[in-house]
Amino acid sequence: MSLQFSVTRNQNPLPVAKRDEVLAAPVFGQYRTDHQVVCVWEKDKGWVSAEVIPYGPIQMDPAAAVLHYGQEIFEGIKAYRHDDGSIWTFRPYENAKRLQLSARRMALPEVPEELFVESLRQLIAVDGDWVPEPVNEKTLYIRPFEIAAEDFLGVRAAHRAEYRVIASPVGPYFTGGLKPVSIWIALDSARAGKHGTGEAKTGGNYAASLQAQGEGYEQGCSQVMFLDAETGTYIEELGGMNLFFVYKDGHVATPSLDGTILRGITRKSVIQLIQDRGIEIQERKITLDEMRAGINSGDIVEVFACGTAAVITPVGQFKSRVETIGSSDAEPGALTASLREELTGIQYGRVEDRHNWMLRLA
Ligand SMILES: Cc1ncc(COP(=O)(O)O)c(C=O)c1O
Repeated sequence: MSLQFSVTRNQNPLPVAKRDEVLAAPVFGQYRTDHQVVCVWEKDKGWVSAEVIPYGPIQMDPAAAVLHYGQEIFEGIKAYRHDDGSIWTFRPYENAKRLQLSARRMALPEVPEELFVESLRQLIAVDGDWVPEPVNEKTLYIRPFEIAAEDFLGVRAAHRAEYRVIASPVGPYFTGGLKPVSIWIALDSARAGKHGTGEAKTGGNYAASLQAQGEGYEQGCSQVMFLDAETGTYIEELGGMNLFFVYKDGHVATPSLDGTILRGITRKSVIQLIQDRGIEIQERKITLDEMRAGINSGDIVEVFACGTAAVITPVGQFKSRVETIGSSDAEPGALTASLREELTGIQYGRVEDRHNWMLRLA
């Protein structure tokens, strides 16, 4: 890799005692580490600089393109401390590739895979002490993102972009442990349409999900499920997770990737772990009607959602403005619990990493 990182240390890091307090009980996204990565891209020059600098605000012209036309993409990936103190991450080249896919869709420059992985190493090299001890599902959540940073009000792909990386120590995403969560079915809003941006991890998709998420919160639900925008028939995904259904006959099904849902890396890994067990996994279209009938008849025996932030979480019930399906008292399913155990075991270095998914950062 030709770009060399320069490092400017934060002269006012959070005092160690305060950092230890944060790491004792981190709240998702509330605190950030002492540094950030900034890489700049310019049209005709490519990636021109790579720096680690103290964490702090971005100085930006009010005409910066991202503020007007939403050219923004991001990733979510975690750093895990293992019992021997070493620091690892999970399948970073998958995140690098997905950031590139998002970049192409949103007309932003692609961050080279090696630059992506090096940016994680560089941040951990200065902020490694922020990776919590491996207890109570604590990790350092890393947020790489890219923005259009050109000052120009015309509508076209920006000629200057910034790729940044920040990080935040986190505990469990859902605080109820393995308690099944309730999901709100969005009947009046869609997240992504055909040929739209659903497959890209771009801020606008999340902005589009917040209204329904707000309705869901009011109904005691912690995530929203979106249906396909065209017919409102097929199950797509949750606001921030992919869905799996376990059937009585033993097979598992998950909505296929048709361009409107995010190519979840946890989803891909869970499919592999299911295949490893010799269980049939179907990636196919699943209708809301099939889900309702399956849960009501007992044909569907477990539902779980998965993603980097919340790993694997059992789903107990689905609610919408017209119905309730399933029960909030449901027990977590056996397959859900054991897949979660296996995946977190691999991530924390306690279960053999037979697919070489883990990469050591420090
Ligand atoms: C909309 C959406 N779907 C699915 C996922 C799960 O993806 P991953 O497993 O790569 O975290 C996420 C989280 O990143 C997401 O935001």
